[in-house]
Amino acid sequence: MKFFADTAEISEIRELADTGLLDGVTTNPSLVQKSGREFIEVVREIVGVVKGPVSAEVVALDYEGMVREAEVLRKIADNIAVKVPLTPAGLKTCKTLSGDGTMVNVTLCFSSAQALLAAKAGATFVSPFIGRLDDVGTDGMSLIADIRLIYDNYDFETQILAASVRHPMHVVEAAKVGADVMTAPPKIIWQLFKHPLTDSGIASFLKDWESTGQKIV
Ligand code: G3P
Repeated sequence: MKFFADTAEISEIRELADTGLLDGVTTNPSLVQKSGREFIEVVREIVGVVKGPVSAEVVALDYEGMVREAEVLRKIADNIAVKVPLTPAGLKTCKTLSGDGTMVNVTLCFSSAQALLAAKAGATFVSPFIGRLDDVGTDGMSLIADIRLIYDNYDFETQILAASVRHPMHVVEAAKVGADVMTAPPKIIWQLFKHPLTDSGIASFLKDWESTGQKIV
């Protein structure tokens, strides 16, 4: 499973990239707003840190506008994945861009039918939003499982990017049902490392080691 960081905070991206476990980054207009940064400038900085796919989202709603904005975004770097919403215009844009060899992330996917359309439009990634489905009392994870089944039935190459991840178990469950990628806020990625038994195990090993008086040299 690939790990993407869902943030536009460059310091958080640097810190995660330093682990060697970060495969990409996703941004959206809300995350850019939260960062307080200028969009193009912050995306330029991110692609300087992360070699894997960096999603940058268009904000136009019509096909011509989306293609125009995508032109600006994809010129930033080869690893830009243009993010488009799951609408008829978004999918038409996806078809055009993927035909030109540009990576496309189709976002705001909330149903299997929508995911099927994204794959037919040649999306590199489809982003089903687990947490937002859970928020309205439906099972976000079962959508990931359904999309996996459908994509495997037809050997679609579109990667399932589990998004709107709210806690570590979302990551584990998405991995169990076969999501190709997950994107999560950095805080959740750091939580994946943590286990109290790891901390107490290190403390007791070190205490015993110190009492031996030995050194590794
Ligand atoms: O980037 C898209 C998605 O991950 C947003 O998550 O928590 O705002 O539903 P959230």
